[in-house]
Amino acid sequence: MNVAIIAAAGRGERMGGNRPKQFLLLAGTPIIFHTLRPFEQCASIQEIIVVLPAEESAGFLSEAHRIGLANLVRVVPGGETRAESVSRALLTISPTTAEIVAVHDGVRPFVKPDEITRAVEAAKVSGGALLVAPMTDTVKEVSGAEVVRTLDRKSLRRALTPQCFRYDILRRAYEGADLHDPALTDDSFLVEQIGINVTAIEGSARNIKITTPEDLVAAEALLQEKGL
Ligand code: C5P
Repeated sequence: MNVAIIAAAGRGERMGGNRPKQFLLLAGTPIIFHTLRPFEQCASIQEIIVVLPAEESAGFLSEAHRIGLANLVRVVPGGETRAESVSRALLTISPTTAEIVAVHDGVRPFVKPDEITRAVEAAKVSGGALLVAPMTDTVKEVSGAEVVRTLDRKSLRRALTPQCFRYDILRRAYEGADLHDPALTDDSFLVEQIGINVTAIEGSARNIKITTPEDLVAAEALLQEKGL
């Protein structure tokens, strides 16, 4: 069986305000429920683990049930970093039944079920796969205020989620990892470090991560475009 881990235990400091960003409303519904929908609809996913701040867990499942989104869901309390949150969810998965684990940011509500399926299927072949999008800006490497060099945009991609891996590979990648390393911003990085070739799958640039108040404005516009 294939399991999705939705990392939604962040405190959303960059958004400002009191409420973590995954609980802010998008068209009247908390972002995290928009994110759950494509996973509930995806035939490639049989279980969804939502990682939440401990104090947000109470009431989450009943609210998810109320809007018809809790069929496959269970909740796990998160950690201090994203990596710690993912690791905690990973430890609750049964090794005997898990095939692919799809790790996704709780604040990326615009992923499509077919994108999830393409990443899951690619991970079955190569062991690991993630969605990527092209760079539209030119990227500079800097040191302080000084430009060191200009990177070749053609060979660069933005790493999106979901990032999907064979369960045994992801467990191995997380074993011994420093879960508090600030450089550890995605799961693929850990898997690359144990020598697995991770497949990059072209995904949609609409699969944005809602991090700042400007992203929330962009997300409202994307939702209206979708006609929701
Ligand atoms: O901080 P960042 O934007 O990289 O967070 C990406 C995702 O990881 C968010 O959905 C956030 O809720 C989640 N996260 C988590 N546990 C943490 C920190 C972040 O699940 N301790």
